[in-house]
Amino acid sequence: MERGNNPKEEQLEQFKVNNYGKKMTTNQGLKVSDDENSLKAGVRGPTLLEDFHLREKITHFDHERIPERVVHARGFAAHGEFELLRSMKEFTRAKFLQDVGSKTPIFIRFSTVVGSKGSADTVRDVRGFAIKFYTEEGNFDLVGNNIPIFFIQDAIKFPDFVHAVKPEPHNEIPQASSAHDTLWDFVANNQETAHMMMWLMSDRAIPRSFRMMQGFGVHTFRFVNEDGKAKFIKFHIKPLLGVHSLVWDEAQKIAGKIRISIDVTFGKT
Ligand code: HEM
Repeated sequence: MERGNNPKEEQLEQFKVNNYGKKMTTNQGLKVSDDENSLKAGVRGPTLLEDFHLREKITHFDHERIPERVVHARGFAAHGEFELLRSMKEFTRAKFLQDVGSKTPIFIRFSTVVGSKGSADTVRDVRGFAIKFYTEEGNFDLVGNNIPIFFIQDAIKFPDFVHAVKPEPHNEIPQASSAHDTLWDFVANNQETAHMMMWLMSDRAIPRSFRMMQGFGVHTFRFVNEDGKAKFIKFHIKPLLGVHSLVWDEAQKIAGKIRISIDVTFGKT
């Protein structure tokens, strides 16, 4: 094969830079002659904080990897179409909600909340969704959960709740699920969590598929119509296929649970 016909080689060429004859610079473009020796106070140090080049190189290094999101890390997405079946003109002047039959392209990302990379899909957890409506007037984003209420009433408790629902710190168990000591400790001390816990411990928290669960915007939103009149509204998404859940045993099997049976026979060698 002739050189250049191989797409991989062509792609690689794009990333090659010829620096011949050019000076080395900091990220900000300041010429430097050396990037292997930091500024020191005298021959034996200590290192000086005024060495901005050292600080820049280390900061760059610290940020080379994007850390995993603390919540909603595992996502599953699809493109789709939103079709308006009933005009919302009475409530809003948003263009994509005016004409019955009008279609708006959407992109939707479903997610579980607690699980880290590699965790199972069928865990007992809230399912999140983030919809991007590509409307003629710009993008409209809507986040929601498959449960209509929430664990906490004040955002300042979010880190505490998430620390509690994440795995136990000493053994990283359970992964992607709830109902363990640190979570119950939070629940016992935060009365406002009670309602959400009833949902979380119900079949709703192990949906059979993303097409078989309801969606809720959770927050109260405000629609404003052409006359400037405002109305409080809620977003509810109802699946055409109905609401279906897995049973716990199915959820665990799909997640890879195996049963090992060991026959032990005494008295034989
Ligand atoms: C006090 C309340 C809340 C706080 C502080 C909070 C905070 C967060 C944070 C920090 C993220 C991760 C963002 C990232 O790493 O990119 C997130 C993601 C998300 N949250 Fe919340 N959240 C709260 C309540 C809610 C509620 C009520 C809903 C449902 C309406 C919700 C739905 C979502 C969804 C769907 C995502 C993932 C978005 C995506 O797929 O891109 N959250 N939230």
